[in-house]
Amino acid sequence: MALASGLLLLILSILFVEARTQPNQFGKIPLGSQLSPISETRSWLSPSGYFAFGFFSQGNGFAVGIWVVGQPNNTVVWTANRDDEPASFGATIHLSEEGKLFLRTEQGNENNLIANVSEVADSASMLDSGNFVLYNGSSVIWQSFDHPTDTILVGQNLTFNDKLVSSVSSSNHSSGRFILPLQTDGNLVAYPRKSASLSVDAYWSSDTYKDDKKGLNLYLNNQGSLLMDTVSTKPVLLGRSSYSCNNKTTIFRATLDADGIFRLYSHCLENKTSWIVHIEWSALNDQCNVLGFCDFNSYCTGKGTNADCSCYPGFAFNDPSERFSGCYKNVTESFCTGTDEGEIYDVITMENILFERYSYSVLDTKKENCGLSCLEDCLCDVALYINGRCEKYTAPIRYGKKDIKASSTAFFKVQTTPAAPPMGQTVITESKKSLIVFLAIAFGAITFLCFVIAISTFCVYRDRTFLYEKLSGIISLAGDFTLRSSVEADVSAPDEMNLSSWAYQCFVAGQLDKLVEDEDVEVESLERMVKIGLLCVQHDPAVRPLIKNVILMLEGTKDIPTPPSIAPFHISG
Ligand SMILES: *[C@@H]1O[C@H](CO)[C@@H](O)[C@H](O)[C@H]1NC(C)=O
Ligand SMILES: *[C@@H]1O[C@H](CO)[C@@H](O)[C@H](O)[C@H]1NC(C)=O
Ligand SMILES: *[C@@H]1O[C@H](CO)[C@@H](O)[C@H](O)[C@H]1NC(C)=O
Ligand SMILES: *[C@@H]1O[C@H](CO)[C@@H](O)[C@H](O)[C@H]1NC(C)=O
Ligand SMILES: *[C@@H]1O[C@H](CO)[C@@H](O)[C@H](O)[C@H]1NC(C)=O
Ligand SMILES: *[C@@H]1O[C@H](CO)[C@@H](O)[C@H](O)[C@H]1NC(C)=O
Ligand SMILES: *[C@@H]1O[C@H](CO)[C@@H](O)[C@H](O)[C@H]1NC(C)=O
Ligand SMILES: *[C@@H]1O[C@H](CO)[C@@H](O)[C@H](O)[C@H]1NC(C)=O
Repeated sequence: MALASGLLLLILSILFVEARTQPNQFGKIPLGSQLSPISETRSWLSPSGYFAFGFFSQGNGFAVGIWVVGQPNNTVVWTANRDDEPASFGATIHLSEEGKLFLRTEQGNENNLIANVSEVADSASMLDSGNFVLYNGSSVIWQSFDHPTDTILVGQNLTFNDKLVSSVSSSNHSSGRFILPLQTDGNLVAYPRKSASLSVDAYWSSDTYKDDKKGLNLYLNNQGSLLMDTVSTKPVLLGRSSYSCNNKTTIFRATLDADGIFRLYSHCLENKTSWIVHIEWSALNDQCNVLGFCDFNSYCTGKGTNADCSCYPGFAFNDPSERFSGCYKNVTESFCTGTDEGEIYDVITMENILFERYSYSVLDTKKENCGLSCLEDCLCDVALYINGRCEKYTAPIRYGKKDIKASSTAFFKVQTTPAAPPMGQTVITESKKSLIVFLAIAFGAITFLCFVIAISTFCVYRDRTFLYEKLSGIISLAGDFTLRSSVEADVSAPDEMNLSSWAYQCFVAGQLDKLVEDEDVEVESLERMVKIGLLCVQHDPAVRPLIKNVILMLEGTKDIPTPPSIAPFHISG
């Protein structure tokens, strides 16, 4: 008897600890229930007590979501409206008498629906699977499993067009830096969130394909295997759990972690209060293999989960407290400053560096000349000598890492004298070579005929010797032009955009004359050339002039409209 009542007391005390947050022991949450972050009912527990729905701390306030109840820490597996501001102490969650589930702010705003459905609920449940469900009678009208954030649980399905989005960090569950969509082609692919999700941005994929969207499904089974259903073949096993957990209660989850790696975890309940968390499978082992782990102008070093980011020479952290957040050029932007570039710029050499290979120029040259070539090239921020060739790049540079196995040498152009030019007096001097390349591209982009007309018109203003000099220059540059644009004459390629944007900046600065300072050029005709050139390379074809108008403009019989701005090249985000 004493034993029985002692046991009862024990059970009651355990129940009390958990029941403080649990108005209804057996799962059903009736209409008219509410939660508050500062009352004892911060959450509704599942019958087992392993999962809870309600308020959890985030930043200085609270977020709404579902977590695995754990010691020492809870593990959040779902977050409602994750990119909203944290709720304050006075906020409440209501399952209202009208059958709606919403967050009421301290100010009384009730528009923050947690479950955005037109049907009204007659009850809700926090299930032992970790699924929070709204019912009308016995039919499910809304479930958290249909709105995954960064995690899937056993019984949850990720189907085509669904995706996981990583959290910012383990303590901030807003949308983070990586995504894992289940594509309509049946492939599960990881990308940096701010990329264009092109194949060059992919850093992991399940390599599963199917042509029929029906039945496409990523799920976790009771044994902790992560499986992908594709069409006819049997499910593809992506990862499996092997920790036995001594036959004790185990919760499995698959999470796209804040570091961009998709992992399968088991939570093993060792005793009443303590869970042991194991990583059962990991899509990647090295954080440095996650594209975008280090943002623009920085590179990743280190193995496993000890990755760190460093800025390239000449760059500084955007936010030194968040080293993965990328770097900026920490000198005053002074493109094409000064004539003796060799004196104010220097190159810093780094070995074993790799980054996205999207160069604007590739040279067949010796390694010794690669850095020098960058030094002499106004557009060049870094040259990469790899596979016997010298590739030149303009910042920003992304997807950088140091890889001991890579036999590459990077030459970073850095300013040796940090003296910034006086404000408002930026002097733009660029070699005439770039001007002609720009014109060649601009006019080449519309038609070759246009190009020839442009050049010959340009040359009419020269004397004879000058004409020959120019023509031979153009011929050699034409070679350069073909090399650089061999892929396509499309004006949107990044090298051409950089040239155009540079030319536009020269034009806006009103310093076109500086471009050809050693020559006796008629400024008016030069300006006309550049203006027409800028019109020819507009993104919007409707803004580009007709050929017959180009001829009239070149002759000077037609006014040339002021060209709209040309955005500097940047990588899509
Ligand atoms: C979470 O991260 C986002 C994005 O970095 C940030 O805007 C937000 O303020 C953070 N929230 C908290 C509570 O720290
Ligand atoms: C629990 O959370 C605290 C604070 O967020 C953190 O410092 C600690 O490392 C976490 N412990 C585990 C085991 O994750
Ligand atoms: C609810 O969903 C509808 C349609 O998807 C959307 O237009 C609306 O903004 C959503 N409301 C809230 C409060 O999220
Ligand atoms: C619940 O479902 C039944 C049957 O579909 C429907 O007739 C009824 O209107 C629903 N109730 C509410 C409150 O939406
Ligand atoms: C997941 O898919 C399986 C098989 O298609 C289905 O039986 C199950 O109900 C789905 N689960 C959810 C939560 O929709
Ligand atoms: C787990 O349970 C199975 C069958 O119930 C049993 O055969 C096995 O020995 C158990 N393992 C452990 C470690 O207790
Ligand atoms: C539960 O297990 C943990 C770790 O194994 C241990 O530290 C703790 O004391 C145990 N608690 C109980 C009540 O046995
Ligand atoms: C650029 O960074 C270097 C190294 O961090 C620092 O010494 C230098 O002062 C910085 N220059 C500017 C202009 O911020």
